[in-house]
Amino acid sequence: MRRWQMSTVVLMLVWALAVGVGKEQNKKNQPFPLNLFAQATAESYIGEKECAQCHKTQAQTFNASPHALYVRNPKLSVDKRGCEACHGPGEIHLEDVKDLTKVVSFSKSKPKEISLACLRCHADTMRLSQWHRTSHAQADVACTSCHQIHREEKGKAGNGEKLTKFFASPLFVTAPEPKALLKTDEVTLCGQCHQREVNEFRLNFRHPIPEGRMVCGDCHDVHPSKASQKRMRVVKDMCVTCHAEKSGPFVFEHDPVAGWTGEGCIECHRPHGSHNPRLLKAFSRGLCNQCHTDKGNTHYPGQSCWNVGCHVAVHGSNTDVWLRKP
Ligand code: HEC
Ligand code: HEC
Ligand code: HEC
Ligand code: HEC
Ligand code: HEC
Ligand code: HEC
Ligand code: HEC
Ligand code: HEC
Ligand code: HEC
Repeated sequence: MRRWQMSTVVLMLVWALAVGVGKEQNKKNQPFPLNLFAQATAESYIGEKECAQCHKTQAQTFNASPHALYVRNPKLSVDKRGCEACHGPGEIHLEDVKDLTKVVSFSKSKPKEISLACLRCHADTMRLSQWHRTSHAQADVACTSCHQIHREEKGKAGNGEKLTKFFASPLFVTAPEPKALLKTDEVTLCGQCHQREVNEFRLNFRHPIPEGRMVCGDCHDVHPSKASQKRMRVVKDMCVTCHAEKSGPFVFEHDPVAGWTGEGCIECHRPHGSHNPRLLKAFSRGLCNQCHTDKGNTHYPGQSCWNVGCHVAVHGSNTDVWLRKP
């Protein structure tokens, strides 16, 4: 062998070794709990029956989850099958059952670790980077703050009853069913941490949440995806998905409605509920005087500026620059 051939072979060997070692280290360096899955081989997975031997209650309460049907599909790769799809490979767990770095414990893991475990499969709902930008992720609210996997029986939320009692007086005309594995119905769930906002829906004028015709998620995107962010990021765009007739374009736009002065609709409306009809911030000239400070009492001494004969086309007009007719 010539010298240059020799050195190429040596170089290639070193390279192969480095890549090999690199791969090994990559597996170990992945954040918990992904490192558990990364270092496992097919034999590390012991199967659901084994887990059920020692964790009878959880094995039973798991049956009512839609996950049960999915993870029992024998065509799936082993790391997505049975209990181990979420809790990690059993062999590593059995090395030391008390060691919480060897099993995914959802009650004891950090919120970030929980999202990694769930998003192994739920990348189609949202990507990890999108989740981590939400104020929930940043405030350490975990998937399992809202979702519950193991439950008593189908349709019945595990600790939902406790949460339903959370409101001193009932909010709902009819109590909605919990869905999407939420711990309880969506509004009660959100209200557990956002009581002030939920109480705004008790005001006389409000979006019809107590009537069960809307939920918080119609306007708030708990799981941001590319498509939903496009709709939800700008308040005006979100409102006009349901109130299309307010979106224009009009020949004569009213700047705040078009969103040219700020956040659009919420410059005049309260999004949740209000003491004033039409969810308005104020039901008098004060509403318009927020901006039109030059229009004193001499301009029109009456109460509201959108009386018949005045600016009835407050959202925009196709015929009148002063917004007095549609
Ligand atoms: C030989 C019995 C045994 C088997 C088999 C077993 N475990 Fe465990 N597991 C335990 C014990 C004991 C603990 C520790 C309980 C404690 O510390 O209170 C534990 C702890 C856990 C925890 C953390 C519990 C907590 O309180 O946070 C999870 C999750 C878990 N096991 C899931 C599994 C899964 C999934 C399987 C199947 C892959 C499995 N176990 C197999 C005995 C077992
Ligand atoms: C889709 C993910 C998922 C699967 C699959 C799953 N679990 Fe769980 N498990 C959870 C979550 C999340 C919790 C926390 C409590 C809850 O949400 O119900 C939990 C809680 C537990 C606990 C209590 C300790 C802890 O982590 O808080 C044990 C033990 C457990 N599961 C065992 C099992 C067994 C046994 C199976 C299979 C029969 C199984 N799990 C399948 C997600 C899963
Ligand atoms: C092994 C892959 C896998 C893992 C891990 C996993 N899921 Fe799922 N999940 C699925 C699949 C597949 C479905 C759809 C099941 C169906 O509708 O039949 C689903 C459905 C759901 C649903 C919707 C249920 C419904 O009724 O609409 C929620 C919520 C959910 N998962 C939350 C979680 C959470 C929280 C975790 C982490 C604790 C988790 N998942 C972990 C695969 C997974
Ligand atoms: C603040 C509460 C909250 C948190 C935290 C949360 N979710 Fe959800 N999730 C919801 C609500 C509400 C719905 C129902 C939305 C709907 O009906 O479309 C839902 C629906 C889902 C669904 C079913 C619908 C779909 O988009 O496919 C999945 C899957 C899901 N969540 C997974 C997750 C995962 C994974 C995490 C953690 C990374 C998580 N969720 C964190 C509230 C939450
Ligand atoms: C476990 C508690 C908890 C639950 C349940 C919860 N949130 Fe939150 N939410 C928080 C925390 C903490 C923050 C961040 C701090 C703050 O702004 O108050 C937050 C922030 C928000 C924000 C403000 C976003 C921003 O950028 O300012 C909205 C909107 C929101 N949550 C909506 C919801 C909705 C809708 C639900 C029900 C599907 C829900 N939350 C359930 C705890 C929770
Ligand atoms: C009709 C649409 C709509 C509905 C329904 C709705 N919200 Fe909002 N919410 C908004 C808008 C718009 C804002 C932004 C208000 C602002 O910036 O002044 C907001 C703001 C918030 C904030 C942040 C408040 C702050 O001070 O930063 C929270 C938390 C919140 N909503 C929770 C909820 C909860 C919980 C529900 C269900 C009970 C809900 N929202 C239903 C449109 C809605
Ligand atoms: C998911 C659909 C939806 C979204 C998004 C939505 N709304 Fe509504 N809005 C409704 C429904 C439904 C009603 C009740 C209408 C009824 O009772 O006939 C309503 C009522 C109203 C009313 C009171 C109408 C009246 O006649 O008193 C105002 C004002 C309003 N919405 C403004 C807004 C604003 C501002 C936004 C954005 C922050 C918004 N809406 C977002 C569905 C929606
Ligand atoms: C400059 C203040 C202002 C802005 C900005 C504004 N509105 Fe209004 N809106 C009003 C006033 C005033 C009324 C009451 C009109 C009446 O009662 O005749 C009203 C009434 C409504 C109503 C109920 C009555 C109807 O005509 O159906 C809806 C729905 C509504 N607005 C939606 C919106 C939406 C959506 C946006 C954002 C695209 C928006 N508004 C922006 C002032 C405003
Ligand atoms: C958030 C600020 C804001 C609010 C609130 C507001 N406007 Fe305006 N309005 C404007 C701006 C900006 C223009 C563009 C012309 C200008 O700069 O005066 C405008 C234009 C108008 C015009 C067209 C005539 C003109 O001066 O060009 C009328 C009429 C009008 N507004 C009526 C109202 C009425 C009635 C209300 C209360 C229901 C109202 N506005 C609330 C900001 C506002």
